[in-house]
Amino acid sequence: MDVPGDTYSTPDAAEGLTALRERIGDCQRCALGATRTKLVFGAGDPRARLMFIGEAPGRNEDLKGEPFVGAAGQLLDELLASIGLARSDVYIANILKCRPPGNRDPLPAETEECTPFLEEQVRVIDPVVIATLGNHATHFILETQRPIGALRGRLFHHRGRCIVPIFHPAAALYDRSKAEVLFDDFKRLKAVLDRVAENGRPCADGDQPKLF
Ligand code: URA
Repeated sequence: MDVPGDTYSTPDAAEGLTALRERIGDCQRCALGATRTKLVFGAGDPRARLMFIGEAPGRNEDLKGEPFVGAAGQLLDELLASIGLARSDVYIANILKCRPPGNRDPLPAETEECTPFLEEQVRVIDPVVIATLGNHATHFILETQRPIGALRGRLFHHRGRCIVPIFHPAAALYDRSKAEVLFDDFKRLKAVLDRVAENGRPCADGDQPKLF
């Protein structure tokens, strides 16, 4: 993504991520370490202005070690393409780095153990915009329990970043009416990115949620 003033994250963001990956190692900090195939650290541009945060690896991600490579990932690619972006323009990570058995929801203890690594990724990449996909990511980042349906379509300012909550793409695989909402929300996301291109850090002015 060609954004003027793209000088926020440190030039050694890639090194920072490599060091973090090494620190995580063959993680056995929670029980998911015993059941995963591959740890899914995250992927994309270490200096991306836009970061997506999903929930946790599913079966395909667990096998490949990459986020969003299954059906939900295909839809994510289409959504990105609809606003002129490719995966290589953004960074994608998850709340959990290992697959919960049977794709169950992350447990609070797993989230607590794993998210310091996500927070470090956010610190190193220093994205201007974070798009949270679904309830888990949105609740974690915005420190709220309000349902995604009440938060999507709005722009939040949080810790100097723009937060754009969006339905999880997997939700549209079961409910096609959500696909339309997702494409609309990506248009809103593009509008935020356009503001970033014009103003640098449009959400740096406070922590108050604001209506889109
Ligand atoms: N769902 C997620 O939340 N993350 C992935 O990486 C894949 C599916």
